[in-house]
Formats: sequence, structure tokens, C-alpha cells
Amino acid sequence: MFKILEANELTTNIIQMIVEAPRVAQACLPGQFLIIRVDAEGERIPLTICDYDREKGTVEIVVQAIGAETFALKNLKKGDCLADVVGPLGKPSDLCEEPVEELKKKKIVFIAGGVGTAPVYPQAKYLKEHGVDCDVIIGAKTKDLVILEDRFKKVCNLHITTDDGSYGRSGMVTKALQDLWDEGNKYDHCVAIGPMIMMKFVCKLTQELGIPTVVSMNPIMVDGTGMCGACRLTVDGQVKFACVDGPEFDGHKVDFDQAMNRMKLYKTEEGRLLLREQEGKTHHGGCGNCN
Ligand code: NAD
Ligand code: FES
Repeated sequence: MFKILEANELTTNIIQMIVEAPRVAQACLPGQFLIIRVDAEGERIPLTICDYDREKGTVEIVVQAIGAETFALKNLKKGDCLADVVGPLGKPSDLCEEPVEELKKKKIVFIAGGVGTAPVYPQAKYLKEHGVDCDVIIGAKTKDLVILEDRFKKVCNLHITTDDGSYGRSGMVTKALQDLWDEGNKYDHCVAIGPMIMMKFVCKLTQELGIPTVVSMNPIMVDGTGMCGACRLTVDGQVKFACVDGPEFDGHKVDFDQAMNRMKLYKTEEGRLLLREQEGKTHHGGCGNCN
């Protein structure tokens, strides 16, 4: 069992939890994800890591309550326990593999959309700890939905934009990125994490601007173990699985329309049958029981 040391609602239905998980905290790196289960009967929820503290042996998650399982998570309080915290899973962000001296030569921008703001935080924090400057654009629908602002301010140059203009700049993250570019910020590298539609349009823009862009395909994951087939996507014409081969990919090579269409189909039994007919066995084969 994994004890919840802190549980807060950051804004309506977006919860933040700090959980005791020393072995995960020892090993995880920015970009990786966890699978949690609220109780022994619960479904697996794959969640990108928002922060970790190796000394205290804790990991932090930020979750939007949208279904039965995430609402069950929301109902847990400080002192309660999670049945499972498995991880770290997936590959760490490429930024963690790049020599710091190379990173320092780059002008890096992160685009963080809505709840996708949380997984951007450990990457920006990692860069700060290694003496690398970066810009972060947080996009939210309204002022109330901006999360983690104070923590970001400590680790990056922060730009906030809201769709309705109620806080910061006005408009979506793509407008903020274009404006910053026009203001003279010639970025060399972009990381976009947020809703699929946001990542698609950020990639369209960064392709025009010539900025290499990495995206996190966490939203299409279901079981997070390579077995369900939900997170199958096409990258540069090749079949990949977000949970095993990612979650981060070169955004300019991702077929977003196909991934979003699959995500929609995967939600229903009929859709899953159709996918099976069209694609054959949709799972990865990592379980050893197939292929
Ligand atoms: P949201 O719908 O409020 O969008 C956040 C921001 O994205 C908007 O404020 C806007 O600036 C931008 N955006 C949205 N549509 C856009 C478009 N068409 N063009 C340009 N920019 C656009 O976000 P939300 O409701 O908080 O999002 C939740 C989503 O985030 C879920 O789908 C969840 O799966 C996803 N998510 C992704 C990750 C990841 O690793 N990629 C992690 C956590 C959550
Ligand atoms: Fe099931 Fe990747 S989430 S195969």
C-alpha cells in the first residue's frame, strides 16, 4: 500500500497528491509515468509524474477527475492509501540524455496545456537544476484553471495565456508562441504537452517556424503496459506504442488525426472490434503471450 501524504484540489476536479513510493522516487526521471490503482479491484490509471523527491521518497501526481476511477481517487484523503503505484514506466525525456553544455546553447520553450501543465514541471525543474534557462507557456481556458503558477515561476521564464483573456495573454498557446516568436524569441527546441488537439496545432505551427518539437502521447494510454493496444500510433510511417516506445515522440512525425480517431474508437466495444478488424491484433506483444 502507498500512503497519501498530501491531497489537494488545485482547481475544480483537478487534484494533486503526494504519495509515499520510495523505490519509484529513487528511479524516476522527467517524462516518465506511473500506473496507479485506487484499490485492488480498480482500473489502472497511467499518469505522468509531476514531481518527485528522492530524499523523502515521494512522488507527486496531478489528475483530472473525469471518470469513475479518477473520481474515486479524488475522494481519497491525506492518510489514505493507494493499492498500487507502479513505475517509473516509459522512456525519460530526451532532454535528460543530452549533455548540459549542449542544452545551454539552445533556446527551449515548453508548451503546457491545461492539465498537461503538470508533466512539464519536472522537465523545467530539471533544466533549472542543471543551470539551463527555458521558457514555459501555460495555456488554460480561464484564469481559474491555471495550475502550478508559483512553482513554475521559480524554475523558468513563465508566460501565461488564457483562451478568454481573463489572465495573462489572450488566446490559445499557438497564438502566444507565434507572438513570442515575433517578439524575437527564436526557439531551437519545443516540448508540447497537453490535449491532443493542442499538440497537433502546436506541431503545425512549429513545423512552419522550423522548431523541432517533442510531444507526450500520454492521453491515448489505457493500461500503460503494452498489452491493450489502445496507445498504438503511427510515427514517421511506423507503428509505435506510446506506453512502451514513448510517451515522447517527434511531434512532426506523429499522425495526430489517426491517433485521435483511434482514441475515439477505442472508447466503445464496437470501436475496439472495428480496430481489431482493421489492424489485426492491436497490442504490442510485450506480454509474451502473443505473436
Ligand atoms: P484544455 O482543453 O483546457 O486546453 C488547454 C489549452 O490547450 C488551451 O487553453 C489552449 O491554449 C490549448 N488548446 C486547446 N485546443 C487548441 C487548439 N485547437 N489549438 C491550439 N491550442 C489549443 O485542456 P484540458 O481540458 O486541461 O486538457 C485535458 C487534456 O490534457 C486531456 O485530454 C488529457 O488527456 C491531456 N493531458 C495530456 C498529458 C500529456 O502527457 N500529453 C498529460 C496530462 C493531461
Ligand atoms: Fe495499452 Fe499502451 S496503453 S498498449
